[in-house]
Amino acid sequence: MGRKFFVGGNWKCNGTTEEVKKIVTTLNEAQVPGEDIVEVVVSPPFVFLPVVKSLLRSDFHVAAQNCWVRKGGAFTGEVSAEMLVNLGIPWVILGHSERRQLLNESNEFVGDKVAYALAQGLKVIACIGETLEQREAGSTMAVVAEQTKAIAAKISNWDNVVLAYEPVWAIGTGKVATPAQAQEVHAELRKWIESNVSAEVASSVRIIYGGSVNGGNCNELAAKGDVDGFLVGGASLKPEFIDIIKSAT
Ligand code: G3P
Repeated sequence: MGRKFFVGGNWKCNGTTEEVKKIVTTLNEAQVPGEDIVEVVVSPPFVFLPVVKSLLRSDFHVAAQNCWVRKGGAFTGEVSAEMLVNLGIPWVILGHSERRQLLNESNEFVGDKVAYALAQGLKVIACIGETLEQREAGSTMAVVAEQTKAIAAKISNWDNVVLAYEPVWAIGTGKVATPAQAQEVHAELRKWIESNVSAEVASSVRIIYGGSVNGGNCNELAAKGDVDGFLVGGASLKPEFIDIIKSAT
């Protein structure tokens, strides 16, 4: 297997310059496993990308929380992939459920964004996940397969893609998926990738879990064979994010 553990911190729409600098100070002082064990990427709001990149320790990396679907221009309010590259930001989170729901980002639109970001040289954390209604209807795998298919249809190289399974019903709710639930979906996703992309990609792609991960539940989740890390929201703004990084196996 040999997939390097990946821990992402999605700060969402939070923070002031002072608060962001405090978080970075905590991260810079943390004693954590080395880069050979765990890859750490933090994602502040766009406006704090330069200051976080300038202050963050060199073994942690920075992600934007989104980017536009094509070259920049007359797209008021958008931030282009080229701008992120120009700022030296290596990662971008795409397809987060909050954008899919609030901004109606379709599966195809997310697939196009992933393809464009990769083509500009960015590395992508691509988010998928079902709603509570879809889970209760027994449609979880159908939904996440469709979301993954829309990405697979637009890309030919998965080397710079991390897939984040984030069940919408677990995001910000405190209702974390059980380790068995996370493992089941991750394993099924890996099988889908093996059948529809390649055995090599299925074996190498990191599938990380997001949705109410915290210092108390991360170790049990991390122990599951197909859980390759986390995408953390609320807890990434707190010192317990360090404990989550240390759960790297
Ligand atoms: O992108 C990660 C995020 O959606 C998870 O949020 O607060 O449930 O950890 P949270």
